[in-house]
Amino acid sequence: MDAKELIFGRHSVRNFLPDPVPEVVLADILEAGRLAPSAQNRQPWRYLVFTDNGKIQKLAQNCGLVGLSIFFIRKAPCLIIACADTKSNVRINNQDYYLVDTAISFHQMMLMARSYGIESCWLAAFSEKKLRGYLKIPESWRIVAMSPFGYPAEKSLYVKAISSFAGSNERKALGEIVQFL
Ligand SMILES: Cc1cc2nc3c(=O)[nH]c(=O)nc-3n(C[C@H](O)[C@H](O)[C@H](O)COP(=O)(O)O)c2cc1C
Repeated sequence: MDAKELIFGRHSVRNFLPDPVPEVVLADILEAGRLAPSAQNRQPWRYLVFTDNGKIQKLAQNCGLVGLSIFFIRKAPCLIIACADTKSNVRINNQDYYLVDTAISFHQMMLMARSYGIESCWLAAFSEKKLRGYLKIPESWRIVAMSPFGYPAEKSLYVKAISSFAGSNERKALGEIVQFL
């Protein structure tokens, strides 16, 4: 898959086949996150990886996910939670960079996954408090995101509805977001 197809063809996927993510592929996904750039190379990201669907199902019950998200993570063969250790934060121009760094790293993982035909969906609509308690995540870590990873299954009606509700295909025109100076 070339870069254009990788990036231009990407959309959030919310319905997965039960087939596991092969270990070698998971290794590349994690490596893509590890090699990401970060402010002053602080590498604040920390990843919690689930490859046991039973554990993912339990997690789905204990992370305070809102709406229908709970249905689509429950079926996933793999789920990764992206955290950021605030102790590795760097502040530049009055701006904290641990979230930026972790987002770059996690998105690199998502793109690497996609290059192997494995799709994902960034999720923010969980309860950080519940999840922290359930997984005993250290207080200095923020939970930035979670995402299911897996081979895409055919879209069910509710998955189509979520994508359309989330405005999956809508993007601002270039003129609204770019200025040539
Ligand atoms: C920071 C962030 C948080 C998101 N949180 C959720 C979420 O909680 N639930 C969900 O279904 N999708 C979530 N999404 C996916 C967006 O809805 C999706 O990326 C957007 O609608 C564009 O659609 P596309 O990814 O299919 O192109 C999130 C995406 C980002 C980047």
